[in-house]
Amino acid sequence: MSLTVVATRPIDGQKAGTSGLRKKVAVFQQAQYLENFVQSIFNALTDYQGQTLVVGGDGRYYNDTAIQTILAMAAANGFGRVLVGQNGILSTPAASAVIRHHKAFGGIILSASHNMGGVDGDFGIKYNINNGGPAPEKITDAIYACTQVIESYKILSDSPAVDLSQLGSTQLGEMTVEVIDSVAIYADLMASLFDFEQIRALFASGFRMRFDAMHAVTGPYAKTILEQQLNAPEGTVLNATPLPDFGGGHPDPNLTYAHELVDILYGEDAPDFGAASDGDGDRNMILGRGFFVTPSDSLAVLAANAQLVPAYQQGLAGIARSMPTSAAADRVAAKLGIPSFETPTGWKFFGNLLDAGQVTLCGEESFGTGSNHVREKDGLWAVLFWLNVLAARRQSVADILQQHWAEFGRNFYTRHDYEGVDSAAAKQLMDGLKGQFASLTGQSFGNRTVQLCDDFSYTDPVDGSVSQGQGVRILFADGARLVFRLSGTGTEGATLRLYIEAFSTDSAQQQQDAQTALADLIQLADQVAGIQRWTGRAEPSVIT
Ligand code: G1P
Ligand code: ZN
Repeated sequence: MSLTVVATRPIDGQKAGTSGLRKKVAVFQQAQYLENFVQSIFNALTDYQGQTLVVGGDGRYYNDTAIQTILAMAAANGFGRVLVGQNGILSTPAASAVIRHHKAFGGIILSASHNMGGVDGDFGIKYNINNGGPAPEKITDAIYACTQVIESYKILSDSPAVDLSQLGSTQLGEMTVEVIDSVAIYADLMASLFDFEQIRALFASGFRMRFDAMHAVTGPYAKTILEQQLNAPEGTVLNATPLPDFGGGHPDPNLTYAHELVDILYGEDAPDFGAASDGDGDRNMILGRGFFVTPSDSLAVLAANAQLVPAYQQGLAGIARSMPTSAAADRVAAKLGIPSFETPTGWKFFGNLLDAGQVTLCGEESFGTGSNHVREKDGLWAVLFWLNVLAARRQSVADILQQHWAEFGRNFYTRHDYEGVDSAAAKQLMDGLKGQFASLTGQSFGNRTVQLCDDFSYTDPVDGSVSQGQGVRILFADGARLVFRLSGTGTEGATLRLYIEAFSTDSAQQQQDAQTALADLIQLADQVAGIQRWTGRAEPSVIT
C-alpha cells in the first residue's frame, strides 16, 4: 500500500444541486470523476487530520465501488478513522445520527435519494458537516470552486478492498476503518424520542399497518424497529431488502410511485395505516385507510399533537417549512404562540434554525419531515411520530385530519411536476413570469385578487446570508398561492414544479377532493405561465 498522488484536471459537470452532486451512474464511472469530487471535498475542508469521517449510502448500484475509493482517499488524505455502515448501508437520517453520536468531523453520504437506481440510474454524493446536516452553501460553493482548479488527488494505491460485510475494525494505512451496525444508533435514538410502550400496545390491540421500504434503504431499519422492537406482525414491512436497482422501481414515496402501497390502503380490507420511505430513507408518505395525508398537513398535524410524544412534550421552540410547503403549519404555530419560518426549498436551510434552537420541527411539501433529533429529514421518524399519535389518540387517520381541519381550517394543496422538459423553454417560462410581476399585482381573477408577486428571497435569521431566486410566488389576498420553480435535483432536462394552494374554513367545502377544489387555480397557472405553450405538455408527469 502506498500513498499515490495522481495528476488530474477539472472535469465538467461537478456542480452540486439542492442535495449534493447527482448524475447518471455512467457519469460517475468516468475516469477520475468520483476521485476529483472527493478530493475537492477534502480540499475545501481544513483541520481534518486524524479526525473521524462517517461514510455510507442507500445501497444503490455503485455504492460499494464508491465507498472503497473514498476509503482509500480518506486514508491518503490523513483522516484518522472512518465509520462505515455494514455493507455500505446508512440511511441519510441514520448517517446524520451517527455523525452526531460519534461527534465525527463530517460524513459522506452516497445517494441520489428518490431517483432511480441501477446501472442505468442515478448516483449521488454529498458532504455533511459535524452537526450531521448537509454542508451549507459556503462549503458546497468552495467544493465546486475546488473542482474547477483541481490538479491532483491522493489515494492509497494497491490497498485491499475492505470487507464491509463484517462488523469491526481494520487498518487501511494509518487510518482505522470501523464497520458499524447500520441500524443500532438510529434505533436507539428513536426509542429515546417516542413512547415505544404505547406503540407496542397499539399493535397488540390489533392495529394493522403496512410500511413500504420500496426495495431501498429503510428495509433493515423498519424491520428492526417496527417488527422486532414494536412487535408489529411479520409482513408489516414490504419490499424490505435493499436492492442495487430498487427492484426496477422509482423509490419515491408518493401517490404515483408508491402505487403498490396506495392500492393496499385503498383496497378491500385495508389496514389502518400505511407509510413508505424513499431510496435513502429521508422521505415519508403517510396514508390512512383510503386516505392520503399531504406532507404539508402531516407537518401541521404532528406539530399540533407534539405534546403526545415524550421528546416534544415540553413544547416546540418553533416550526419551519419550505416556501412551497402549504401554510397549514403556520396556523398551528400561531395557535401555539410559537414562531414559524419560511425557508427556501432544500433541507440545508433548516440547519441553522435547528442548531440555534429556534425551531424543533420542520418540513417540506416534498414528503420531508424532521426535527432537531438529526439534521436531515427523516422518513421513519415521521412514521413513528404518527404511530405515537395514533397510539395516544386511538382514532383513525381520517378522523384526526377532519378534526384538524375543523380546528385550523384546511389548506388545500397539490404539486404538479413537469419532468424532463426542455431547459431553455423552462427558463423562458420562468422569465416570462418574472416579467409579469407588476401587471399581475392587484389584478383579480374570479373572486381572487393578487396581493403580491415575487421571486422568493430568504435572509437566514441566524447568519444573515441571503439566498435569492428561490421560486416565483403569486400570492392572493384570500390565502391562495401559486408557486413556480425549477427543480435542482433532476438529472434530465429541466423539471418545472407548480405548487397550488387554497385555504378553506367551510366544513362542507373542506370535503372536496384537492384537484377539484384547486381546479380554477390550476387553470389560472397555465393562463399566466403558458405551461402548455412552453413545455408542449397538456398534463403534468406527476401529481401529488
Ligand atoms: C426536491 C424537493 C425538495 C427536497 C429535495 C431533496 O428538490 O422539491 O423539497 O429538499 O428534492 O430531497 P427539487 O428537485 O425540487 O430541487
Ligand atoms: Zn431522499
